[in-house]
Amino acid sequence: MTSSLEDDSAPIDVSELAGDEPQKRRTLVATDRLAKYFPVEAGLFSRTTNFVRAVDGVSIKVRRGETLGLVGESGCGKSTLGRLILRLVEPSYGRVVYDGRDILHLSQSQMRPLRRRMQVIFQDPYSSLNPRMTVREIVGEAIRIHKLAPTRRDEEAMVVDLLRKVGLRAEARDLYPHEFSGGQRQRIGIARALAVQPEFIVCDEPISALDVSIQAQIVNLLQDLQEQLGLSYLFISHDLKVVEHVSHRVAVMYLGKIVEQAASRALYEHARHPYTRALFAAMPVADPGRRKLRVLLEGDVPSPINPPTGCAFHPRCPRIVKGKCDVDTPTLDEVLGASGHKVACFNPHPHDQDGPS
Ligand SMILES: Nc1ncnc2c1ncn2[C@@H]1O[C@H](COP(=O)(O)OP(=O)(O)O)[C@@H](O)[C@H]1O
Ligand SMILES: [Mg+2]
Repeated sequence: MTSSLEDDSAPIDVSELAGDEPQKRRTLVATDRLAKYFPVEAGLFSRTTNFVRAVDGVSIKVRRGETLGLVGESGCGKSTLGRLILRLVEPSYGRVVYDGRDILHLSQSQMRPLRRRMQVIFQDPYSSLNPRMTVREIVGEAIRIHKLAPTRRDEEAMVVDLLRKVGLRAEARDLYPHEFSGGQRQRIGIARALAVQPEFIVCDEPISALDVSIQAQIVNLLQDLQEQLGLSYLFISHDLKVVEHVSHRVAVMYLGKIVEQAASRALYEHARHPYTRALFAAMPVADPGRRKLRVLLEGDVPSPINPPTGCAFHPRCPRIVKGKCDVDTPTLDEVLGASGHKVACFNPHPHDQDGPS
């Protein structure tokens, strides 16, 4: 099987991924042409196996204390990428380097101390909290598993401190998840993630299930915690507006690949990829909640089982160059004269064009 992994440039040096750049923040997490192909049944009488190319050759970095936003339509592979980094899913190809170590070669016991350092916050705080456990048990469980408290009293003090950190009162510890609102439940989920004193958190659509009126509170809480604790986030969302607000840098994903990546401001003001522009154009205007999301993107996301040839976005692209975009696959290259801004497109929007705002 040919894959986009093969036509990329030379392998990345691990020492480079660790980030020996004194001026810049050190890299905490890096992926190197990471891919996950899920096998799927082709059909009752077929002998062939098809593959869903959920993640297809992704190289990203998250630096210490930084939020990397990951945005893209539903089904484009965001959650799978997050799970690959946490090693909750084993990749088909590629590498994950955490704090300078290639973690895919580590045994389960070697992984254990690393597991503590990386955590995840899920979209649905209700289904991810055990309904039969009190908040004290939910938050205390991880403290016990990792033996972080010498005595029960220490554990109790830690739980109360964690609840305070996420804006809940000490009395909350004796209650069950159903006794809380959605926003409070997400705070419990955050307290549980923080219990093991992580440095890296995958936030997988952490506010998508919440009422619009409390989304900002949770976003602000995550930002405050990042500042206090020096946390690094991979912040996943299908909502470009939220991602743009919380992220230092943003990666835009389409059908398993990163199609554009830039500093948050640069992306907002000078998006180059037609897909990124379409995502911005589809953003709801003022009057939040009421007006429906305007769908300016034509057509559905193609199937990741048989992705289009060439650039996967070409069937929906307003800037398609026939004979080029439907044939060749663009690589994610630095935009000339715009350090840190990368785009995978044969016919990107020019820089001097006004931003989408
Ligand atoms: N365990 C799995 N088995 C088979 N296909 C999967 C599995 N997990 C995800 N997929 C498929 O991979 C693609 C990407 O899914 P996902 O990472 O959940 O996207 P997103 O989080 O961007 O919505 C989808 O087509 C999805 O159906
Ligand atoms: Mg998802």
